Amino acid sequence: MRRSGDSGSTWRIGVLFSQSGVTADIERTQFHGTLLAIEEINAAGGVNGHLIEPVALDPASEPARFRALAERLLDDERVEVIAGCYMSSTRKAVLPLLERRNGLLLYPTLYEGFECSRNAVYTGAAPNQNGRQLADYLVGHYGARIYMVGSDYIFPHEANRIMRDLIAQRAGKILAEKYVPLDAVGKDFTAIMRDIRRKQPDVVFSTVVGQATTHLYHAYAEAGFDPVRMPIASLTTTEVEIDAMGVAAATGHLTAAPYFESLDSEANRRFVTSYRRRFGEGERTNASCEAAYFQMHLLAQALARAGGMETERVRTALLGLEYDAPQGRVRVDPDNHHTYLWPRVGRVGADGRFDIVAAADRAVKPDPYRINHDVSGASGEPKPWPAEV
Ligand code: ACM
Repeated sequence: MRRSGDSGSTWRIGVLFSQSGVTADIERTQFHGTLLAIEEINAAGGVNGHLIEPVALDPASEPARFRALAERLLDDERVEVIAGCYMSSTRKAVLPLLERRNGLLLYPTLYEGFECSRNAVYTGAAPNQNGRQLADYLVGHYGARIYMVGSDYIFPHEANRIMRDLIAQRAGKILAEKYVPLDAVGKDFTAIMRDIRRKQPDVVFSTVVGQATTHLYHAYAEAGFDPVRMPIASLTTTEVEIDAMGVAAATGHLTAAPYFESLDSEANRRFVTSYRRRFGEGERTNASCEAAYFQMHLLAQALARAGGMETERVRTALLGLEYDAPQGRVRVDPDNHHTYLWPRVGRVGADGRFDIVAAADRAVKPDPYRINHDVSGASGEPKPWPAEV
């Protein structure tokens, strides 16, 4: 039975971002980034005369629900392409289904790497596009004695495994690796704060996600730790989590990502202005929202080339495509279905915005399997990092 995602004059895209549950705040911005791009595409006449129609469902931050709703989108709604997923546990829940039905997942979230599906295009950062740069920055500016705390699911365990390697390569040491439940609250961090006080690391590396992020940073501030001397460094604490926790608890802490709302470029100013006009002046963009936005524009280009929704043709058309995203020009790498992105490190200023303290001078090729482990530059691999700004 063939799907087409084609209902007459519209081309339909499945959209799976949570509106409820522990990661709803960040996923809502991914949903909004997706909608904004679709509205822009449609306002410009659609693709080859077809309007794009999102078919959006709420998977409630639950892997089993992601899987059930992906099945509904593929089998009942007959879509071929799904934009969605934040937590890696939810991506892992839907990907086997897309592989079996030969659909395409557009995944706009940083993740742990070590995956390359023919049925996915990954537009968030792989570890060589955020973790590597963060490790360099931390060791260069704060020290290499690292305390790890994360939410208890696949991404934090894998991101910590990779960070452990990166820190070992830089002659550093991991002092502890602790996990809290996905729905952790303040009391879940009490013993960890005591342990941090005892071990006195140079940096706390956080892979806590969702609403628990607020509780971590609040516990840290209440424990009296000074981010100037001992910051929390993260890949997942974005403008959204800063808004949720409040500026006082966030100031001085670090995040590595390819995009920050504070980026000073014409393309980003246009994006932020359109986003606020559409969703409210108080709303803020972030790296996962930006990836959700630009991947939809990449998809529109691919659909125009493919002339329809058929997976094989859309996949072929997506590979190698480029787009002037708010973060800079991005490109889908035909080698591995991930995206060339612009690594950056930001530190939260007193105004709650990220000051960009280090940035690559070009988009970095994704290396999801970390094939290039060289930190010396002796391999001849171009070294676009670090560059102080
Ligand atoms: C994540 O789970 N990839 C943030």
